[in-house]
Amino acid sequence: MGRRKGWKRELSLLAVCSLLLTPVTGAESRTQSNLANLVLQDCGSCHGMTLKGGLGPALRPENLERLPAEAIAAIIREGVPDTAMPPWKPLLAPEEIDWISRQLKAGTLISPQ
Ligand code: HEC
Repeated sequence: MGRRKGWKRELSLLAVCSLLLTPVTGAESRTQSNLANLVLQDCGSCHGMTLKGGLGPALRPENLERLPAEAIAAIIREGVPDTAMPPWKPLLAPEEIDWISRQLKAGTLISPQ
């Protein structure tokens, strides 16, 4: 009997721990994988799902060599007037835009080919 009780207590302790931990540890990685998905799907709808270009130009590191990360961030923030490239500042926080620009420069969101 005593053993069974202990087992239950351990389980409920585990449940409390995971409840406490999820919001903290889960938040950052969820945000980044959400952002990575957004880039491949939303940006990808114009720039190609593999960012090799479509309606918009390719966004692979070799295509962005002439643009420093800060310039890329400015383009994402403000869009390109008179083109299909929309401004993203109503939808994305500045630090999210910075993160995306750095990933585009580094090519971390795409597979090598
Ligand atoms: C509705 C279509 C569309 C969507 C969605 C879109 N773009 Fe664009 N984007 C364009 C077009 C078109 C251009 C080219 C503008 C021009 O002619 O200079 C462009 C240009 C760019 C450039 C400059 C590239 C270069 O070499 O000059 C960057 C960087 C960029 N987009 C990033 C993004 C990111 C990041 C997202 C998602 C957050 C995104 N775009 C979503 C259409 C789109």
